[in-house]
Amino acid sequence: MRAVKAGSPSRPLSLDEAISRFGPDARNVGAYTPAVGRLVQTLCRLSGLDEATAADWGAAAVLHDIGKLAIPPNILLKVGNLSDGERLIMQRHTVVGYRLLVPFWPLAADMALKHHENLDGSGYPYGLRGDAIPLSARILRLCDVYDALRSARPYKQAFLHGKAVNLLLEGDSRLKPQMFDPDLLALFARHHRSFEVEYEGTDSTASPTGLSAPSLRAVDDHRGAAQVPSDLRVGRSDRPEQA
Ligand SMILES: [Fe+2]
Repeated sequence: MRAVKAGSPSRPLSLDEAISRFGPDARNVGAYTPAVGRLVQTLCRLSGLDEATAADWGAAAVLHDIGKLAIPPNILLKVGNLSDGERLIMQRHTVVGYRLLVPFWPLAADMALKHHENLDGSGYPYGLRGDAIPLSARILRLCDVYDALRSARPYKQAFLHGKAVNLLLEGDSRLKPQMFDPDLLALFARHHRSFEVEYEGTDSTASPTGLSAPSLRAVDDHRGAAQVPSDLRVGRSDRPEQA
């Protein structure tokens, strides 16, 4: 990996700039994620944050997985379940990302470090709970999981929007609503179409399979509550490995 230069960016890094700093693999291993940046910016606005903060946090979120560049490809792209040891190595991408980013963008470094922390304390690397997790990382966590559910990876298929909403709001054996900030989850439920639009931007790599698009008409009726309407409920037996 290339050494980073000191200094604080005043605008988002383009993909070319990211490649210049981190190498060409930034393009190919999910280490540069403009869709997550757009989702974060959207949730910041919905949360009432000012436009400058929304732009700043959205730009920083693009680089949240940059630490994946240090994970061996046989683990990063493994088809099938990771062993306990492999999972520990994978989890290091948060700390590696922090170390890569902190010399020139402390905000992005902190978001990279804490983007797998869960509100209920079940996340990593520190198992932080509640308000110990900065709002920027709580927003990023929700947006990153939505992006992961929607995205195809070498080891998993993509889900359509409706099923991703269902999983986030109702959970399954691995994903629990308690992992997320309840206020943010309620905003997501109320404004889910904004997330769908932002995700399906120009860089989308999703290739959803297996489900027809469900009707989402009733979600807006659940104001203030992160609930899934009955017409959005779908089977979850075909859920692939979580990113
Ligand atoms: Fe990550």
